[in-house]
Amino acid sequence: MIEGEKNIEKIHLFPTLVMVCKNFLSNQQSEDIKNFCLLQKTKPYKNAFDGSATSTWTSKSKFIEVLEKEICTLDKLSKNIQSFIDEYSDEFNLRELSIANSWFNIQNKQSVLNRHVHELSVLSGAIFINVDDDSSELVLESPNLYSHYKSFSPIDYHSMSDIFVIKPEVGMLVLFPSWIVHSSFYQENNTENRIVISFNVELSDLKK
Ligand SMILES: [Fe+2]
Repeated sequence: MIEGEKNIEKIHLFPTLVMVCKNFLSNQQSEDIKNFCLLQKTKPYKNAFDGSATSTWTSKSKFIEVLEKEICTLDKLSKNIQSFIDEYSDEFNLRELSIANSWFNIQNKQSVLNRHVHELSVLSGAIFINVDDDSSELVLESPNLYSHYKSFSPIDYHSMSDIFVIKPEVGMLVLFPSWIVHSSFYQENNTENRIVISFNVELSDLKK
């Protein structure tokens, strides 16, 4: 570089990548999963929800593997999710990532998904199985505590927004950093049996 020449560096500081895939599952696959979930034993999950909701969450649960074994049309489910995770990690040259645990939640009418983060995890994912227009939305909150001080409010300028609202669709997969505070933002769900598969993603070499 010539001495004194201007040198412009563009730094995208503290980036937050959220990946959304519509129709990650077909309607038939979602229907099969829904029917399977409704036959499973679940437990009330008081920390995560207000109102009536149950879950199969444990730190070791492997629901995605169960689905692969039990439903023949889902034999490539882990592989397809892993490809999606790899696409995310390639974006940031992250180390290899893989699914740590997976479970599902069932919310009844008037239940609320409380604000939370997924601790001890790198990425988290949600696959919407049984949702409709009455279902509560998934709201991701800006990690910037001061973003509401801005003097402009561009609704669709995601990186400068306070919140980002995802309207769930059957078969949609959402992948986001586990530190993002997310919830239904006090909105009540009005779908009977709103079913979502969730999973956490960790560094693969932690498993070795
Ligand atoms: Fe969550």
